[in-house]
Amino acid sequence: MHRIVVLNSKGGSGKTTVATNMAAALASAGHSPALMDFDPQGSSMRWLERRELSRRPIRGIAAYEVSGGVTRAYQLRSPQDCDYVVIDTPAALDRTGLVEATRGADSILIPVMPSAIDIHAAVKCISDLLLVSKLRHADRRVGIIANRVKSNTVVYQSLLKFINSLDIPLVATLRDTQNYTSCFDRGIGVAEMPKWQARKDEESVRSLVNWIRRNNQLESLCAS
Ligand SMILES: Nc1ncnc2c1ncn2[C@@H]1O[C@H](COP(=O)(O)OP(=O)(O)OP(=O)(O)O)[C@@H](O)[C@H]1O
Ligand SMILES: [Mg+2]
Repeated sequence: MHRIVVLNSKGGSGKTTVATNMAAALASAGHSPALMDFDPQGSSMRWLERRELSRRPIRGIAAYEVSGGVTRAYQLRSPQDCDYVVIDTPAALDRTGLVEATRGADSILIPVMPSAIDIHAAVKCISDLLLVSKLRHADRRVGIIANRVKSNTVVYQSLLKFINSLDIPLVATLRDTQNYTSCFDRGIGVAEMPKWQARKDEESVRSLVNWIRRNNQLESLCAS
């Protein structure tokens, strides 16, 4: 069981887009993912509701719901029949929320958009994460995703410079495209779009999944 947490305390940075696309890509690659939503907005759960039954299944866990009948630990347990759990988190996650969401994380993905405000917010988010989760910059579990990228722009160059200044890898670059918006409306990921439509996005999603799989293999090696 591999737990992937997608976080960034900055609203609208692409957490739900990354989480839903990750879950869809894992499902279409033959895995059995669960999608756990810590955000009371419930965007990931709404995406899942739109998913047609004919698609490969993704288990949904609404972690934001306070469940009376069971313990919190039971509610947040990883389902036995799933091999990956993708965790979507809310913006403005406080330290307690950060601890809860990152507990037992095997991979942590931070989507960052190319803008001065987002880069500034990412610095704070990463330092909180390192402090709260006692991770180090070079921890192989943490990766950054450049999201809504328009290549050849000055802000994108600034984002790359920022990422290079950290000891955290750039796992994938997602371009700014309506493909992500239309996928959200249909409960699918770009990995499930017709090839001709998602040609320019295939590589990004493949990089994401490959990084997670590599982490998963390393985790298995460390455990054995
Ligand atoms: N690469 C992209 N290209 C185009 N639109 C995008 C891309 N990534 C995200 N968006 C759009 O930006 C908006 C915010 O994205 P998303 O909901 O994934 O962010 P979030 O971090 O989950 O937001 P919140 O903090 O509110 O939960 C959405 O409308 C989404 O469709
Ligand atoms: Mg969201």
